[in-house]
Amino acid sequence: MSYLLGIDVGTSGTRAVIVRPDGHVVSAATADHQPMRMPKPGWAEQDPEDWWQASIHAVRAALEQARVKGGKIAAVGLSGQMHGVALLDRAYTVLRPALIWCDQRSQPQCDWITSRVGADRLIQLVSNPALTGFSAPKLLWVRDNEPALYDRVAHFLLPKDYVRFRLTGEFATDVSDASGTLLFDVKHRRWSREMTAALGVDPGILPRAYESTEVTGQITPETALLTGLKAGTPVVAGAGDQAASAVGNGIVRPGLTSATLGTSGVIFAYTNSPKLDPRGRIHTFCHAVPGKWHVMGVTQGAGLSLRWFREQLAAQETWYAKQIDADVYDVIAKQAERIPAGSDGLIFLPYLMGERTPHLDARARGMWFGLTAAHTRGHLIRSILEGVAFSLRDSLEIFKELAIPVEQIRLSGGGSRSTLWRQIQADVYGKEVVTLRESEGSAFGAALLAGVASGAYSSVKESSEQAVRLREQMVPDAKNEGLYDRQYDVYRKLYPAVRDLSHQLASISSDGIE
Ligand code: XUL
Repeated sequence: MSYLLGIDVGTSGTRAVIVRPDGHVVSAATADHQPMRMPKPGWAEQDPEDWWQASIHAVRAALEQARVKGGKIAAVGLSGQMHGVALLDRAYTVLRPALIWCDQRSQPQCDWITSRVGADRLIQLVSNPALTGFSAPKLLWVRDNEPALYDRVAHFLLPKDYVRFRLTGEFATDVSDASGTLLFDVKHRRWSREMTAALGVDPGILPRAYESTEVTGQITPETALLTGLKAGTPVVAGAGDQAASAVGNGIVRPGLTSATLGTSGVIFAYTNSPKLDPRGRIHTFCHAVPGKWHVMGVTQGAGLSLRWFREQLAAQETWYAKQIDADVYDVIAKQAERIPAGSDGLIFLPYLMGERTPHLDARARGMWFGLTAAHTRGHLIRSILEGVAFSLRDSLEIFKELAIPVEQIRLSGGGSRSTLWRQIQADVYGKEVVTLRESEGSAFGAALLAGVASGAYSSVKESSEQAVRLREQMVPDAKNEGLYDRQYDVYRKLYPAVRDLSHQLASISSDGIE
């Protein structure tokens, strides 16, 4: 029997999963990254070497756990956090830490891009507006602020593509991840010569872009020694983490939508053709299904908000979880279970790293609103879970405006492991939500893409028919749904009401983003 390997280069760690073609996950292992460095508010950096070391460890551990020899892996698929900028010189040396997806420092570069290219022309060329989340503004930040270093840039790689380079020696990416660079002609699925020319970016630094199921290279003999994989094993293009996760969730036809709660939170829908939001609030990208597209709305601080709570305010829960040998997130969620829906009027805005959908605002800031002396830690926690769900509902409301059908919402990512958070999502979205038998998300999707290349499946659609199974359905609780509708109305109006103050505050308190 041969197996498929998916590697997901995430934000907090790299995960490797070994999958049987029928969709059974044989083993899964994660190697953590160093925490991202935030030298100034809104800045976020990681070392590409860290991704590589974590990939080696995760792959070795997954092979060992499965007791599968490298030679039994038919193909490898890659997925990863999107938009990050890894820069290499001619000798393939990494020039500086990568600016990653949630880094917000490049608003001046976004403004410059918009004025240079023109807002409408930008949408025509690359289907999206200039946002700090995307890669091109980050690249230009380096050019503007570190010109001597920028002069030495010979290669720009997205996070998973840096790992691909170390695995195979090839410079390549896939169309879904390339879509998030702002340098890619999403409609025609190729690099945009017009964009690179307008921005003065040398197209020679860009990797070759493939459809997600195409083979981009083979495991080198040197990598084989490090990872336990067999030299010559094909590595497919794979996809950005969101498109890969969508493949793993079977989002391969119109009407199917996913809500993924990882560090970020994403609502994702399949489309047969590029579907544009004239206001640019949701992204229009190529899907990992060859020749198809998708739309997605992104909340910057989903799981990130809960992790922030754990790191800054949950010493008590962390201590207790250790005593009883439990997961600290389970202990945290237990406190929220005792609190009624709506957190007794407490609302949390999860804009801890600015916000994309719907505000497109790097200077958005998080807040608790409605706090009273009667609120407890449990309220704080529940309001975070609810605030993140409200922020994802913002994307669903935009889908509604654009007549993008949403029949069913499939939940994935770390946040979907919590029963409470799943129910809150069903209630806040007012839609049935389902979970899947395998909740491995992006790494699982990357393995399925590898399976298409290796011939285990005839297409991405078939991979989902063979390997993706529903596990549990949850319907909205009618009582909570009504209350959440009313609370969402306040949530939706809250940030616009304080936007100017938020900007004023950001300019006083931060020398990172102004
Ligand atoms: C998607 C996005 C995040 C990252 C990290 O646009 O920025 O989902 O890919 O997961």
